[in-house]
Amino acid sequence: MKRVLIIGSGGREYSIGYFLKDEAEIFYAPGNGATEEFATNIDIKDFKELAKWAKENSIDLTIVGPEDPLVRGIVDVFKEEGLTIFGPSKKAAQLEGSKVYMKNFLKKYNIPTAKYIETSNKEEAYKFIDECKKTPIVIKADGLCAGKGVIIAESKEDAKKAVDGMLSGEMFGEAGKRVIIEEFLDGYELSMFAICDGEDFVLLPAAQDHKRLLDGDRGPNTGGMGAYAPTPLATPEIYEKVKTKIIRPTLKGMQEEKAPFEGVLFIGLMIVDNEPYVLEYNVRFGDPECEELMALIDSSLYDMFKNAATKQLDKIDVKIKDMVAVGVVCASKNYPYSSSEPAEIKVDDLSDCNGYIAYAGVKKIDGKLMATGGRVLVCVGFGKDVKEARDEAYKIVDRVHFDGKKYRRDIAYQALEK
Ligand code: AMP
Ligand code: GLY
Repeated sequence: MKRVLIIGSGGREYSIGYFLKDEAEIFYAPGNGATEEFATNIDIKDFKELAKWAKENSIDLTIVGPEDPLVRGIVDVFKEEGLTIFGPSKKAAQLEGSKVYMKNFLKKYNIPTAKYIETSNKEEAYKFIDECKKTPIVIKADGLCAGKGVIIAESKEDAKKAVDGMLSGEMFGEAGKRVIIEEFLDGYELSMFAICDGEDFVLLPAAQDHKRLLDGDRGPNTGGMGAYAPTPLATPEIYEKVKTKIIRPTLKGMQEEKAPFEGVLFIGLMIVDNEPYVLEYNVRFGDPECEELMALIDSSLYDMFKNAATKQLDKIDVKIKDMVAVGVVCASKNYPYSSSEPAEIKVDDLSDCNGYIAYAGVKKIDGKLMATGGRVLVCVGFGKDVKEARDEAYKIVDRVHFDGKKYRRDIAYQALEK
């Protein structure tokens, strides 16, 4: 059997291993309290040490889940050791690591995005804001801020306050000392995921995430409270435009930049008047989007990742199931504000449910599976359409019990309102 090492510990990484485990023996660094039920968790943090371990243990393929190790160059370290690893190099990971790099790249290669300026100078920022014809105005910190570095300012005054907060370092430290100020795009959002090998790509079904904590898209931003795919909001025409106007020029541009893009290109899109604009790139799967997408792949998942990591995507055909997957995140009591007391998780019989649970913020304590904070798990339902998949997802949610469990009740509402 093949041997696969997965880097990360969340629901995203759980789902990759869960759907790979029939094809390969799975190892996680570090994994979580539920991954140890079907895989081996390894506790090595240093990249060089980890690469050494992977070599000694004949790992065939390493898959990196989160952005942080990518931005810190794990792929470069593994490749230097001659290992096969799926993910972008440190240089290519700048597409996510720096918003300034990303925006300048989009502009250089003529890829549609909101008009913007980049600056670390307060007067320049104020001048751009004063000259904006419309509000809201969007202010973004340059560096990684765990998804919190974007402020949509309703007035010019608020926009200036956000600029002050960021440039002074008060709001996001070093990550905010350079900012992007851009026009507000008024449309609907989609997430698309392209598996890339530097030259070729496979575009997966489009998803919609739910970033806010509360029903009706209210409350604070989170890492994501639920997602579904495919979304009927992405028409064949939109897929085509995304391929030709965004993904192909991006892969070509990254080649020209001498940073060919391998890994998952996660494109955050705003669709305005049927035209796609790039809001942001991420260089990894979305979480919880990955938990649905892995369930939709109908051909060898191992081959998909392995061929992408070895520039052979053109040799395989990735098949997609004719079904919808809806994922509902169950988070702990104090998420996203503060940590919560560990709480035991109990799950009733799921044998009549069509779906699965992807575990994230969990630990095994004295043999019991405990919710240890943040996003605890994702209940993913499958169905022939959005409604059926959503009903299955909520059926699973009702069978999961832990103190403080909270979740949104309206995941996939956009598709059902359509
Ligand atoms: P980002 O991290 O750049 O994707 O921004 C986070 C969220 O802010 C996005 O998912 C959008 O909802 C919103 N956003 C970012 N940029 C814009 C923009 N130019 N126009 C409208 N909404 C935006
Ligand atoms: N769910 C959005 C993200 O992973 O960034």
